[in-house]
Amino acid sequence: MQTELCKRLGIEVPIFAFTHCRDVVAAVSRAGGFGVLGAVGFSAEQLDVECSWIDEHVGDRPYGVDLVIPAKYEGMGEIDPSKLEEQLKALIPEQHRKFAAKIYSDHGVPEVTPEERHHELLGWTEATAAPQLDAALRHDKVRLIANALGTPPLDVIEKIHASGRLVAALCGKIHQAKRHKEAGVDIIIAQGTEGGGHTGEIGSVVLWPQIIDAVAPTPVLAAGGIGTGRQIAAALALGAEGVWTGSLWLTVEESECPPAQVETLLKAESTDTVRSRSFTGKPCRMLRNEWTEAWEQPDAPQPLGMPLQGMVTMDNVMRSHRYADKAQPVAFNPVGQVVGQMKEVQSVRELMRTLIEDYVEATERLQRLNAV
Ligand SMILES: Cc1cc2nc3c(=O)[nH]c(=O)nc-3n(C[C@H](O)[C@H](O)[C@H](O)COP(=O)(O)O)c2cc1C
Repeated sequence: MQTELCKRLGIEVPIFAFTHCRDVVAAVSRAGGFGVLGAVGFSAEQLDVECSWIDEHVGDRPYGVDLVIPAKYEGMGEIDPSKLEEQLKALIPEQHRKFAAKIYSDHGVPEVTPEERHHELLGWTEATAAPQLDAALRHDKVRLIANALGTPPLDVIEKIHASGRLVAALCGKIHQAKRHKEAGVDIIIAQGTEGGGHTGEIGSVVLWPQIIDAVAPTPVLAAGGIGTGRQIAAALALGAEGVWTGSLWLTVEESECPPAQVETLLKAESTDTVRSRSFTGKPCRMLRNEWTEAWEQPDAPQPLGMPLQGMVTMDNVMRSHRYADKAQPVAFNPVGQVVGQMKEVQSVRELMRTLIEDYVEATERLQRLNAV
């Protein structure tokens, strides 16, 4: 499975794991893959702490950090995070806050205490992501910075390159991939609609080869719907330099997801997900539940754009983490269609071994077919 990209990053297998849990990042990189820490939920100070912890637990292996600087969002251009937050708060209709709060109170999900609350505006903007980038670049073992939801601004790309690291960016359409390449992005992550989190409308098997051809020779990582080694073999057969996975890591032993959430995920089938704007303002794949249904009712307010809708629902997200058992019918459970293949809890090491063995079997099957 050693692709050119493996050699460039000094990893054994091109399995990239996006996660919000530092333990998973360190364990994946230690197992020969490449862990990537999602920074969006952390302040710059917290991110620094998380990266220091990973530095201590990852041995001499590399890892990455993922930021969210969308190509378009409300308040673009304002680079002072506090000013931006005040500006944006003024744009949020009271009706939205009341609607979101009522869904949770109707389901008996307790409130979080004022001490447990944090800023409503997290890393969804350039203003809030810039200090996160500076924090990430203070850690030598961070070898890759990825960006979700758009081409990173040129000064961000330059800063990452000047520090000797690689830049990756996600996309779900061919023109976005071309824009990434033109801006100087080193690795394009092509995510098909079946993926968890923010995702477009084109299926992986159709999207991956089109993007691979459109940006060649820039390396492409295949994302969206990868849960087995067979799917990794398919992605590499289509020309991908590796795979970028997310959902799979929610249910590993090392994951920090609350047990009630893990249980919900393990029970879910591939038909249980929906793309909904109800939590973040942009189409995001998650488990369908009473929350997503409530926002689809004819009398429901239209979800706001990013980052406004995320500011409205920040309180709900905190409550769904804190009181995960009570919140499941209305919780934020971002996950891809691959959830239907996630049926048991394994350690990162076991899961990596299973993926690799399954990949080897799939390629041996092809070799047998070719030998006839
Ligand atoms: C819980 C969850 C949260 C995610 N958050 C982000 C994020 O903050 N930034 C990002 O680049 N991608 C995010 N993604 C998308 C992943 O990076 C990845 O592209 C996707 O999970 C791949 O598809 P899969 O879920 O089928 O493996 C998220 C995915 C999940 C499941």
